[in-house]
Amino acid sequence: MPNSARPLAAIILAAGQGTRMKSSLHKVLHPIAGRAMLLHLIAAFDAAGARERVVVVGAGREQVESAVAPHDVRIAVQAQQLGTAHAALQAREALAGFDGTVIVAFGDTPFLKSETIAALAERLAAEDAPRIVMLGFRPPDAKAYGRIIADGDRIEKMVEFKDANPAERAVTLCNSGVTAIRAADLWPLLDRVGNSNAAGEYYLPDIVMLALADGDRAVVVETGADEVIGINSRAELAYAEARWQVAKREAVMADGATLTAPETVWFAHDTVVGRDVTIGQNVVFGPGVSIADGATIHAFSHLEGASVGEGAAIGPYARLRSGTVIGAGAKVGNFVETKKAVLGKGAKASHLTYLGDAEVGEGANIGAGTITCNYDGFFKSRTVIGTGAFVGSNSALVAPVSIGDGAIVAAGSVVTRDVAVDALALARGQQQEKPGWAARFRDAMRAKKAGR
Ligand code: UD1
Ligand code: CA
Repeated sequence: MPNSARPLAAIILAAGQGTRMKSSLHKVLHPIAGRAMLLHLIAAFDAAGARERVVVVGAGREQVESAVAPHDVRIAVQAQQLGTAHAALQAREALAGFDGTVIVAFGDTPFLKSETIAALAERLAAEDAPRIVMLGFRPPDAKAYGRIIADGDRIEKMVEFKDANPAERAVTLCNSGVTAIRAADLWPLLDRVGNSNAAGEYYLPDIVMLALADGDRAVVVETGADEVIGINSRAELAYAEARWQVAKREAVMADGATLTAPETVWFAHDTVVGRDVTIGQNVVFGPGVSIADGATIHAFSHLEGASVGEGAAIGPYARLRSGTVIGAGAKVGNFVETKKAVLGKGAKASHLTYLGDAEVGEGANIGAGTITCNYDGFFKSRTVIGTGAFVGSNSALVAPVSIGDGAIVAAGSVVTRDVAVDALALARGQQQEKPGWAARFRDAMRAKKAGR
């Protein structure tokens, strides 16, 4: 745990309808950088060492519950969406007996960093003993965010946009919603929150007003706007994705990769890029990709669930799908698709090929237009191509089948049986030749057309 000995719990609010998304997919499950918003947050709390994570569900709860099922979180149900304070209160039972620091976060604010979570917990434990620490930010457009009225870091007032007067609306310091508070303080404060406000809702930031009325101190910690932008609509989703991509591109370049046209490259949340990697224009990374040092990903390639070895070259226009492992120095050229394919060191598939459920040995050469026929409409089967084998162009390898080390498959073959080590497999029609036939044919056809 990066923080003091005090245990940490997270309450993540995700019961809202998310009506502004206009979607049948729950708002917090919309993906950014290839991962559901809510799962970004859970990962951040995990990295911060949170002992408990409670997700408050309500509207569309089945979707949210199945998305978090693999993550060992507790679920609390808010039957009616009466506001953020009411939502947080629903976590009380799940956290019964928990006596540490609680951080409340919103499921639609997905980029909260583990370092920030730790900083909030630390600020709460500081000598001046604030009762509550709020995370604030100054967005380029403050829109309808709640405002924080503060003197230095001491909060004087929290006000929702709907309830704010013009002077308060002019304040640029906004509420991210992220709230740090001791468990022992949280529940009694939440119990006291009322709903006499413009929205008729129980507002979570009202716990600050109650603490101030008790003569206690509440403080704000500020963070960068991109970390806590709230996502309520498709346009905000696209904006958040764009900001995340900008940050990731910068990080990848700072780590020693060249991006020829950074603004055209799209990464996933878990993309790993080594040093001296070059990534060309318009490359898209889905989840689960790692690129080793010195590899080149040429323009217009699409990768997902793939690892690319040192010094390998991919594309242009290559598609690497899940389960692809490309060995060091191997080459995958244009219009090549791979799926569950393992290519050994220095293997080459340079043009127009499909390698699915396949193993390609070191230094093997796969000719243009080779297809591994891995699916018979019912079952998937494997193709194994040996070290140094050579598969001629336009060959169909009908799986299950294996090509021995050093074997050669003649171009245009349909291979249905295993080929032995160092053998030549020829499986195509025999060529016949009829001297002069073409000229006689043309003469006959011209005569027919002229009606002679
Ligand atoms: C909220 C804050 C606002 C802040 C902004 C930051 C309140 C009252 N307002 O406004 O100060 O600037 O976030 O993004 O807290 N939720 C529930 N149950 C409910 C209502 C909401 O679980 O009854 C959940 C939603 O699913 C969402 C989160 O709480 O994940 C925030 O709710 P939302 O309606 O988006 O609040 P904002 O209007 O954005
Ligand atoms: Ca919101």
